Amino acid sequence: MSNTIPKRDHFSSKFGVIAAVAGSAVGLGNIWRFPYVAGENGGGAFLLIYLAFIALIGVSVMLSEFVIGRSAQRNALGSFKKLAPGTPWFLVGSMGIVAAFVILSFYSTVAGWTMEYVVSSLLNRFQEKDPSQVNQMFEQFIAHSWRPVFWQILFMFLTGWIVWAGVKKGIERYTKLLMPLLLFIIIILGIRSVTLPGAMEGLHFLFYPDFSQLTGNSILQALGQAFFSLSVGMGALITYGSYIRKSENLGTSAFQISFADAIIAILAGVAIFPAVFAFGIEPGSGPGLVFVTLPNIFGQMPGGYFFGILFFILLTVAALTSSISVLEVVVAYMSEELNLSRHKATLLATGAITLLGLLCTISWGMGKEWTLMEMTVFDMMDSLSANILLPLGGLLIVIFTGWTLKSQVVKQEISNNGALKAPLFQIYYFIVKFIAPLAIAIVFLDNIGLLNV
Ligand code: TRP
Repeated sequence: MSNTIPKRDHFSSKFGVIAAVAGSAVGLGNIWRFPYVAGENGGGAFLLIYLAFIALIGVSVMLSEFVIGRSAQRNALGSFKKLAPGTPWFLVGSMGIVAAFVILSFYSTVAGWTMEYVVSSLLNRFQEKDPSQVNQMFEQFIAHSWRPVFWQILFMFLTGWIVWAGVKKGIERYTKLLMPLLLFIIIILGIRSVTLPGAMEGLHFLFYPDFSQLTGNSILQALGQAFFSLSVGMGALITYGSYIRKSENLGTSAFQISFADAIIAILAGVAIFPAVFAFGIEPGSGPGLVFVTLPNIFGQMPGGYFFGILFFILLTVAALTSSISVLEVVVAYMSEELNLSRHKATLLATGAITLLGLLCTISWGMGKEWTLMEMTVFDMMDSLSANILLPLGGLLIVIFTGWTLKSQVVKQEISNNGALKAPLFQIYYFIVKFIAPLAIAIVFLDNIGLLNV
């Protein structure tokens, strides 16, 4: 019975692992979320801890998700049921489904803002505006009664449509071309940014680690951002792992994708922070940071009009290749475990997530006052996913891989049944068994005040 899952999306079994997973990893997390969270947490020291978490823990969680998904050949929840039948481990999968809803709800808000910026760039709305005017335009837009809602619905429609039509493979083919182009524009932006007067202060902010600048839960935020950026901790890469061909090298892939993802976040920082200081923007100003900073850079560079349009289009595409990986977690689960057709599952999931997402979007306008512990609905979803659900999911995923799965199973999956040498296997296994669970647990316990480190 285990191998007869007729509804499994077979086209996916052939798509290139690097393209699909890199498409999932690279997105708003690198370009929007990393700069804003780093800015709120003092810059350099945060960057250092974030990179350490990617290298030490993130890569291993990614590889563990691949191992779980590819060996089980199931969705995020079904994989745990299959590998550890009759145990509560499937709850990790359930948590992943919840996380998918939470993440997409605010992700689609921000992706919607990105789409508005495509149009604003086209119409040259930012031309000859000073930084405070750009800021004002942004704040008016996000609080507008229907424009951000319209874009969010459109973005969710596109995400749902791609998952519905099963055209991911086609999309991946384009992203192989489009993502290097996005990288190219980020580099150009970085060059313009670091040559602005006063830019050095921004580079100093980003690269000089001043540990006194870290706030109370900066370390947890760095961990959460590492997981968010790599798309790990909720089963998206378990789901994608189940589509990866058996001949693919999981370890090298995890390593290369994580490396590329970190580089793109750093480059985004190099593009943003020098400009932030040059234009006198507050680095800790929150989720609006890049939307206020970028139009000013485009306004001050040759060809800025075209680069601006192209950049926001490519960022929308990057957001789409990420959002489909989140929606896919829910759709694969519903169609395989709840016996819904893929189409029905896609409609239901997209509809439900859009409704939840509307709350996030309007929490910048008429819903500003609906707060809990000073957090709006948007803040809550953002923080709940990155600071709680993903680290907790990641913790359980490494414990499962290190302690519940048999080491031979893990070794076989990573070495493709002995075909690959997997020279770093022992290091990986040690991290997954001891280092990662301990590190994540310590960060967590410290944060809820149970430890005094
Ligand atoms: N990593 C993506 C980004 O950086 C967002 C994302 C896609 C994600 N799939 C995920 C985050 C799964 C957490 C879990 O934009």
